[in-house]
Amino acid sequence: MTRLAIEHDAVNLSQGFTDEPPVFDLVWAAVSAMLGGDDAQCDRLRASTLRELVPGADPDELLDQPLKTVLAGLQGRRDRLNQYSFPFGLTELREAIADYTERFYHWRPDPVTEVTVTLGATEALASVLGAVCRAGDRVIVPQPYHEMYPTQAAIFGLEPVYVTLVERLDGGGWELDRDEWAAAAARGARALILNTPHNPTGKVFSADDLAFVAELAALHELLIIVDEIYEHIVFDGHRHQSLAALPGLRARTIVVNSISKTGNATGWRVGWVIAPAVLTSPIRGFHDTMVIQAPTPLQRAAVTLLGLDPDVYDRLRAAYARKRDTLMAALRKAGFGVSPPEGAYYLFARYRGVPAIGARSPMAAALHLIKEAGVASVPGDNFYATGTAGDQYLRFAFCRSLPTLEEAATRLATL
Ligand SMILES: Cc1ncc(COP(=O)(O)O)c(C=O)c1O
Repeated sequence: MTRLAIEHDAVNLSQGFTDEPPVFDLVWAAVSAMLGGDDAQCDRLRASTLRELVPGADPDELLDQPLKTVLAGLQGRRDRLNQYSFPFGLTELREAIADYTERFYHWRPDPVTEVTVTLGATEALASVLGAVCRAGDRVIVPQPYHEMYPTQAAIFGLEPVYVTLVERLDGGGWELDRDEWAAAAARGARALILNTPHNPTGKVFSADDLAFVAELAALHELLIIVDEIYEHIVFDGHRHQSLAALPGLRARTIVVNSISKTGNATGWRVGWVIAPAVLTSPIRGFHDTMVIQAPTPLQRAAVTLLGLDPDVYDRLRAAYARKRDTLMAALRKAGFGVSPPEGAYYLFARYRGVPAIGARSPMAAALHLIKEAGVASVPGDNFYATGTAGDQYLRFAFCRSLPTLEEAATRLATL
């Protein structure tokens, strides 16, 4: 879809990444780590003025130098931060992840034995599935799902068992069919992959939903792999709750997370797994064998992100709420049916009521939108493996800048 969007000069609301920069503190932390190379020079770069860093320089001459030349003079002599580091993550980042988890969710994983830094949530999940499951194991996957869950399960020879979230058309959001989930768990499975806040529906699993999942896990000895990558993107008073904080759940919960979405840094590939120590050991082994480690200077910068004042997340939420409302209004005006997402940054929109595309298949509808309206989305059936529930949806990402979304709204109006 991204390829077609480029080809047709469409506003690309298909893939879930932003066109806005990461917070500057994060960028600066990465730049200073790469340039400084070790702690002492990093600290110097962060704490000093240019006058202190380039003593004796003629200010006029300095101003006329290319920035690259000035920066080259500031490069450290010794280097740790551009080199291999512990495969399972920089000590300071694992500690920051433990602090951050405690700060937001009131439980603290052991950074020495329970935290592994990965190449984003994607490699986190792959390392978990590769390390804790055996070929032939069943994994329960709620649909609609993020595409990587069934494809990674296939790579490891696992058997996905699908359960389907159901949209209530009275505005009640998306619900679990509890009988279906209980039946899937009763068949026996190694793990359940839960994503909350949820891509693509925007569902934020409630305390009641999580208590039900916890009960199933205890009853049927399931591991729960919870993908919390949109944890800070929640709306209308909804709150992300940590499953691992529930009584008795720590021993069977594996958290997968990353800075991709909350740090506006999807290309950095820094994420993590929090798992009980007995599972962390094989997860680290798998991770080390496949990729060695996440990039050292970007791990160092992630420490800064995780330590930022929570206001940053309040601002993120407020900005996304505005974007959600802008795109939701445009879609509704064009005839789409949309339940307001409680979290994450997607609108999973029913398109049957849109005259120009209502009679088409999801792929044909998405193609028509790209070619005729100039807006790229993802066909809804892409998020389902079984049944026809997905055939009435298109997914639109609202993580782009407001002007981009306003342009999309203008284009959608031509429908
Ligand atoms: C639910 C979910 N999990 C994981 C990912 C990928 O995360 P990362 O960039 O950390 O690999 C995405 C990206 O869209 C996602 O929506």
